[in-house]
Amino acid sequence: MDGRGQLALLGGEAGVGKTTIAETLCREAADLGALALVGRCYDLTDTPPYGPWMDAFGDYQPEADLPSPPAAFARTGAEAITTRSALLDGVRHFMATLAEHRPLVMLLEDLHWADPESLDLLRVVARESASQALLVLATFRGDELASNHQLYRLLPVLERESGARRIELRRLHQEALRELVATTYHMTEANSARLVGYLYAQAGGNPFFTQQLLRALEEDEVLRPLGNRWVLGDLAGASVPLALRQVIEARLLRLDEEGQQLLRTAAVIGQDVSFPLWASVVGSEEEALLALLEEATVARLIEPEADGAGFRFVHALVREALYEGINPLRRRLVHRSVGEMLAAFLSPDPDAVAYHFRQAGDAQAAGWLVEAGERAERTSALLTAAERYEAALTIQAERGMDAAEHGWLRLRLATLQRFRKPREALAHVEVAERLAREVNDPGLTARVPLVRGLLRVYADGIGDGLGDVAAGVEMIEKLPHGKAPGPDPSNLSTPPSIQGCSSRCSRGLADLPRQRNEEKGTWRTRLAAGRPRRSLARGGAWRSCTPCRDVLTGPGERTNPPGRRTRTSTSTGFWPSC
Ligand SMILES: Nc1ncnc2c1ncn2[C@@H]1O[C@H](COP(=O)(O)OP(=O)(O)O)[C@@H](O)[C@H]1O
Ligand SMILES: [Mg+2]
Repeated sequence: MDGRGQLALLGGEAGVGKTTIAETLCREAADLGALALVGRCYDLTDTPPYGPWMDAFGDYQPEADLPSPPAAFARTGAEAITTRSALLDGVRHFMATLAEHRPLVMLLEDLHWADPESLDLLRVVARESASQALLVLATFRGDELASNHQLYRLLPVLERESGARRIELRRLHQEALRELVATTYHMTEANSARLVGYLYAQAGGNPFFTQQLLRALEEDEVLRPLGNRWVLGDLAGASVPLALRQVIEARLLRLDEEGQQLLRTAAVIGQDVSFPLWASVVGSEEEALLALLEEATVARLIEPEADGAGFRFVHALVREALYEGINPLRRRLVHRSVGEMLAAFLSPDPDAVAYHFRQAGDAQAAGWLVEAGERAERTSALLTAAERYEAALTIQAERGMDAAEHGWLRLRLATLQRFRKPREALAHVEVAERLAREVNDPGLTARVPLVRGLLRVYADGIGDGLGDVAAGVEMIEKLPHGKAPGPDPSNLSTPPSIQGCSSRCSRGLADLPRQRNEEKGTWRTRLAAGRPRRSLARGGAWRSCTPCRDVLTGPGERTNPPGRRTRTSTSTGFWPSC
């Protein structure tokens, strides 16, 4: 509140109390006049690029003189074409302006499920929090972070770069459990000690598990009120659950058979369930489902959304338990029908549709994954885009596919991978080349050397790749006018114009085909004259232009190609002097 913010990283296992603490803090800050925004990541569903940020900004209603969130983050704005740097600048500016007007608390929940681009953005925002009235709270399940998880590697960076404070929540110890029991249940000392012993032995101090056990004991009337006290029956008679899932399964038994099935179906849809979607999937009138919703709400399995459009499971663990309890065959069928319903929406979310078709083992997922990848590319979420294309290829490889489409997809993926793994990406180009020959697709054939050249530029150095690049562009130029079919893979990771660039410096490697069109062969003359760096990126202006540098050097913040040392010679040194 005094204008100096921080990033606080709240880690701990599922159910240990991260959300409870973070939300309490948000409420307290809001009571003091701060604005609190909450963005969540969801388990099981593939979080779309910038998912939690979009979630947080999507709920934000700009007040009179407060700014609107960047267009790319509006719920329907994912179509906005933008570069990474324009997008990061937009968010930084938006948050800085907000925080100037009103202290801001930004809660990002369950970042262990976040997409890589959201974590990138967190890093950027966190760096500036110290000089703003901005508290960023991020929660994550620390025990689920493998050492190759992006967040695992990011945590020490955040601590070092932004002075982030890391807080690890631990389970309740016996003394805390005693307090919890004492404040909730008025009972004899002996009963209290028995109950604490039972809870500790079963739940090990995990608050969520503890709470579920207490509810189960109350529902079974082993723990029941009598007059102004609580009495505790024979705990040996209480069923001894081995896992949280069994406790939740047992609690689900309070609903009738049909109700149980309906709620399990909802668990397939997601953590947040749209009421009309659920009604369509189960084929019931919304009216008929209301009674079940009320019962499940009383049983504290779900809670209704404030706007009445749906409900959410009270905790991801409840949903996980219900989901795991469904017969896998049935689960696939439900996923398929959810996918089909979502696909029929006016503007479906390709990540959500792809996710459900993928879980259903339905080959339709491939097309949706490609669409999700294209959407990711439009917001410069290149890592997510590459992941989606790779997943699409895996599905298509299993099912067989249209060869031309396959070839184009390989080239697009290879183009995206040019910064991070150009050598591996060459394998995709080989496949694309074979497919181009098989289907006799001149557009595809022409682009193969171009993309191969780009990759070799990054893998082996400018000299090695330029020959292929030159050959590719020549072939593209020879394509009959208007018959250069298909998307241009060398251009796919670059928006048509580089947003945020005010000069005309945005002409570089990634921009090659357009440069060719505009300059009618000039680049070739330059190549021939042995001045490749001029031909590929005119002048050096783009190096000092952040938006262009981002596009031209990619999200890895690399200004030299991988594995290459900076050269100082200007005769061959494309990288340092451009
Ligand atoms: N300190 C606590 N004492 C008692 N119960 C708690 C405590 N913290 C959380 N709980 C209960 O445990 C449940 C899970 O907490 P939650 O904050 O959702 O966990 P997480 O976000 O870590 O998964 C909540 O329903 C909450 O009521
Ligand atoms: Mg939580």
